[in-house]
Amino acid sequence: MKVAIVGLGYIGLPTAVTIANAGIPVYGYDINEKLVSEVKKGRTYIKEEGFVEALKNAISTEMLKVGTEMKNSDYYLIAVNTSLNKENNKINLQHLKSACASVGAVLKKGDVIIVESTVTPGTTENILIPIIEEKSGLKCCEDFYIAYCPERVLPGNLMYELIHNDRIVGGTDEKSGEKVREFYLHYVKGKIHVTDVKTAELAKLMENTYRAVNIALANELALIVEKVGGNVYKAIEMANSHPRVNIHLPGPGVGGYCLTKDPWFLIEDYPESKIIRDSLEINSYMPEHVVEIVENALREKGKEIKGSNIAVLGLAYKGNVSDPRESPGYEVYLLLLNKGARVVIHDPYVDEYMGYVPERSIEDAVKDADAVVITTEHNVYGNIDWNALKELMAENPVIVDTKNIINGRELNVFKLGVRE
Ligand SMILES: NC(=O)c1ccc[n+]([C@@H]2O[C@H](COP(=O)([O-])OP(=O)(O)OC[C@H]3O[C@@H](n4cnc5c(N)ncnc54)[C@H](O)[C@@H]3O)[C@@H](O)[C@H]2O)c1
Repeated sequence: MKVAIVGLGYIGLPTAVTIANAGIPVYGYDINEKLVSEVKKGRTYIKEEGFVEALKNAISTEMLKVGTEMKNSDYYLIAVNTSLNKENNKINLQHLKSACASVGAVLKKGDVIIVESTVTPGTTENILIPIIEEKSGLKCCEDFYIAYCPERVLPGNLMYELIHNDRIVGGTDEKSGEKVREFYLHYVKGKIHVTDVKTAELAKLMENTYRAVNIALANELALIVEKVGGNVYKAIEMANSHPRVNIHLPGPGVGGYCLTKDPWFLIEDYPESKIIRDSLEINSYMPEHVVEIVENALREKGKEIKGSNIAVLGLAYKGNVSDPRESPGYEVYLLLLNKGARVVIHDPYVDEYMGYVPERSIEDAVKDADAVVITTEHNVYGNIDWNALKELMAENPVIVDTKNIINGRELNVFKLGVRE
């Protein structure tokens, strides 16, 4: 049994390593030459616990080989990027279409294809299968088998969840579903739910839409509390003591690769959407709102945002991970720059984003700062001695904590959704 993984990014490479270390020979294919040559040396930009060791093991045992040329295999697992075209909020399928064409070019009778990239409903049957059939000259469900199987790992806990999460297998027919279920049994310990393709495509998008809409609800609750007074965190805690209520937490916006695009994929052919569309708008307004809080807080201290020194703490889109994609911290940074502030971003995990290399020393980042804005819940920000840090800042500094991680009234911290 040979497995090819197409696309060696955040999802593809850890999947390739997991399967290789389960004793199945894997060939990893990616069009990015630099990435492939780094992987060959056991190097990666993915910072997940235990991942580098697992990668080095897979490479040194030769269970994982990688290259920039597509090779024939028995199973093809496609995990290339499917991004959002921000001009029209529609899916960009360019990479997935070309990955399917590459697979089609080497496909033989009896092969099995698994699509893990996130797609809009109907994509597998209406777009991907026709490309594969045309390139291979083979017929789906007769000559080859294909299923859509969304990935739902949590960055930060990726190596565990790849094995232990439940999986959805959306087979194009019964035989495809069964073959792919058997494939996952080689390394997945979670439950494997077999269904049809469309249901699997919809389920993936619904999961992330549910989360984005609920974050938007928490964000709106924070905005309401800022107007009517109170503490949104205390109120949410009380509300969540109800047995059937589980309100999320507000924040400076929604980042990451999935929550920012998947809800748009779901409503791509449903422009009538109200709840989902409004939620996305509330979430994307939050960085702007954070800047308003900073501006008002500085004014209270008799300072203007223009010309102020500001440190943004957190470039990763969430706590204790190195992934900065669609980072609210970066968005806040850009908005502050636009207002004429002098801004520096600190992050202990992220190496670089959009050409920006974050400051590694928190002391250097906050030195002489008129304002500090916490945008990511890295543990280090909760554990640090804020009284000592405040000594390094400018006179009368402002701290805006959008993640509710600093306690201590004496620090005079401004928070989202708190006006007591
Ligand atoms: N990152 C996550 O946490 C996550 C979670 C669930 C689902 N997903 C979905 O999984 C898919 C992959 O996401 P990712 O985060 O791994 O993306 P990524 O951008 O990190 O990696 C994609 C890789 O595919 C490669 N690639 C692009 N076109 C190719 C082609 N034609 N042939 C071979 N390789 C090609 C790229 O060079 C890149 O290395 C996306 O659809 C995403 O929505 C991601």
